[in-house]
Amino acid sequence: MILVIGATGHVGAEVVKALAARGLAVRAMTRRPEGVRFPEGVEVVRGDCEDAESLREAFEGVRKAFLMTGQVTGSENLHTRAQVRAAKEAGVGYLVKLSVAKGGEDSHPKVAAWHREDERAVTGSGIDHTMLRPGRFMSNTLHWKHMLRRGDEVTVAFAKKRTAPIAPEDIAAVAVKALTEGGLANRTLELSGPEAITPQQELDIVAKILNRRLTLREPTVEETVDGIVRAGMERELAEAMVEHVLRGDYGAEISDATEKILKRKATTFEQWAEKHFKEEQ
Ligand SMILES: NC(=O)c1ccc[n+]([C@@H]2O[C@H](COP(=O)([O-])OP(=O)(O)OC[C@H]3O[C@@H](n4cnc5c(N)ncnc54)[C@H](OP(=O)(O)O)[C@@H]3O)[C@@H](O)[C@H]2O)c1
Repeated sequence: MILVIGATGHVGAEVVKALAARGLAVRAMTRRPEGVRFPEGVEVVRGDCEDAESLREAFEGVRKAFLMTGQVTGSENLHTRAQVRAAKEAGVGYLVKLSVAKGGEDSHPKVAAWHREDERAVTGSGIDHTMLRPGRFMSNTLHWKHMLRRGDEVTVAFAKKRTAPIAPEDIAAVAVKALTEGGLANRTLELSGPEAITPQQELDIVAKILNRRLTLREPTVEETVDGIVRAGMERELAEAMVEHVLRGDYGAEISDATEKILKRKATTFEQWAEKHFKEEQ
């Protein structure tokens, strides 16, 4: 049995889909199983990383697991530590952990320290594992859809910053390889998309796909900080993090690991957006 934590998330949902398509026994964990649809044959379990008993039940009989955290960076009570504790108790033999690019080392020192601890819960567990370190997800642009329903303007923070965004489907494909094929044990994989682009370029691509004239508005620094605080981060850290991102040049490096592991080209933003922005029009 393979347990997928964050089974409703951008990467987790794709991991569940891909494992189920291979006919493997999959258990999908979510805090709210009601109303969530998974592929046929997938076992669904209610689990919350804040509830150790629910994690214990979710890990029962599990041999391998995909771990991620939906926690706001900087939160206390690391969910990953709770996940690993439950995995150890259950005798799980292999973990694939969704982390962040460079394990967060390019981030503000406090953010970097949090990610270091998060990864260490897995690397220090004594359980065989694969550490996935993707850069910015292409799916971060999906919230543009709400704005595009209301008009032609999209508000995007860090609009001039280049990143090498990666498709969640590609991250999931690497995770599934690690979980099913071996050869990636105890490796840390820096994963990126195939090109470095700015949010403005991403919006231009979406505009072309939708055949609309779209404009981008960059929020003020205060608005950006307020948005991060609303998502749950403490204000002081949010301010420091935003300043750090605006000052630096991070996240635009292109890694060939995705293509080498998948033995195919990594998905471009245009290919990904064709699928995800066109389907609801
Ligand atoms: N977004 C990016 O650009 C990016 C880049 C690099 C790395 N990452 C990493 O990828 C991860 C996911 O990123 P995302 O923001 O795109 O999230 P997401 O895919 O929207 O996923 C959030 C998931 O977290 C689960 N979750 C939240 N709180 C939980 C809890 N208390 N117990 C159990 N499950 C819980 C949710 O499950 P339910 O609601 O169904 O319970 C949901 O499946 C994060 O760790 C992030 O650091 C993201």
